[in-house]
Amino acid sequence: MFQSLNRLNEDAILGVMARYRADPSPLKVDLGVGVFRDANGDTPVLDCVRRAERAVIDAQTTKAYVAPAGRAEFNELVAGLVLGPAHPALLDRRTVAVQAPGGCGALRVGAELIRTASRAASVHVSDPTWGNHVPLLGSSGFELRRYPYYDATAHRLTFDAMIDHLERAPAGDVVLIHACCHNPTGADLDAAQWDAVLEVLHRRRLVPFLDLAYQGFGGDLEADAAAVRLVAGGVPECLIAVSFSKNLGLYRERVGALLAVCENEERAAAVKSHVLQVARSIYSMPPDHGAAIAALILADADLRRTWLGELSAMRDRIRDMRALLARHLRQLRGDDAFGFLERQRGMFSLLGAPPDAVERLRVEHHVYMTADSRMNLAGVLPGNAAYLAGAICRVMS
Ligand SMILES: Cc1ncc(COP(=O)(O)O)c(C=O)c1O
Repeated sequence: MFQSLNRLNEDAILGVMARYRADPSPLKVDLGVGVFRDANGDTPVLDCVRRAERAVIDAQTTKAYVAPAGRAEFNELVAGLVLGPAHPALLDRRTVAVQAPGGCGALRVGAELIRTASRAASVHVSDPTWGNHVPLLGSSGFELRRYPYYDATAHRLTFDAMIDHLERAPAGDVVLIHACCHNPTGADLDAAQWDAVLEVLHRRRLVPFLDLAYQGFGGDLEADAAAVRLVAGGVPECLIAVSFSKNLGLYRERVGALLAVCENEERAAAVKSHVLQVARSIYSMPPDHGAAIAALILADADLRRTWLGELSAMRDRIRDMRALLARHLRQLRGDDAFGFLERQRGMFSLLGAPPDAVERLRVEHHVYMTADSRMNLAGVLPGNAAYLAGAICRVMS
């Protein structure tokens, strides 16, 4: 049977990781894989997580199954964190919240739910978007279409073209939008643009699917949830994929949730039954350990305070490194061609380098990023920023 399978090309990010590991140079710079790094280049376990994890282990009396929906208290806390505790969709009891294995699990379950609900719907993703959106959503069998979002050469949003595209999308189609800290561009819609997008979504009866993987990395938790809250309050139905991989540093524990805001309580009950059936058919039940940790941190005032401090330290470090790299580039070039790095938000920006320049960065300067020139700015360190700026200047004159 397996004779029919040809070997696939290696995954773009995993390939960059492997080459970085194999490079013996002390100068090497890793801007590839999407994890936060502290000033030493490490991805530490947060203090709030360490403390919550000990408490979870001490209190645990069984490893028996939890449920296809995961932990009830986790789901309730996540819905409150994302939508705000007094959001009309919560008060009207028309929100479904189901724990999922990371943001990827939430996106995958959401995709299957869309497919179950509507055979005709296409899903529209931004151009460019996070590479994994394509297999996560596309493998459910619907058509994936791309809406113009960002011009990587001019380093700015192509907002008018995005609106034009949405104006032409058939009613009932789904539009995936990054809620904050767009991956890979770092370019987010501003408040007026979100208002304009919401108006089109509502009028054209499009269904938003918001991907919230970086809440707290762009602004604080409230600011980064503002667009989600606006959209969830302005359309009859929407989906939200939530990830705690980055903001709690729980990457390998696979902690996330799928939220569905529905027209009324009865619809919400029907949607929930289908979400659970999808979960049963893929992984049966989500892993519990990380969700137990996250729930404790969200519920306990002291742990939550510690988390907020650690989250703002992560956010500040990335902002500082954006500013530092932009400053070095400004000094070396005498212009502001890379000033966009400082204005964009979250972990990623597109350098805007062609693939041959990305290759030269790797081969000649030991600087690693994906071929589309996506940089993880958390990989910039106080000690490598000047070197990195020099390398960028040499390959991009
Ligand atoms: C845009 C986006 N969505 C979702 C995810 C999902 O992350 P995870 O499945 O690790 O929680 C990521 C992770 O990199 C991401 O960048």
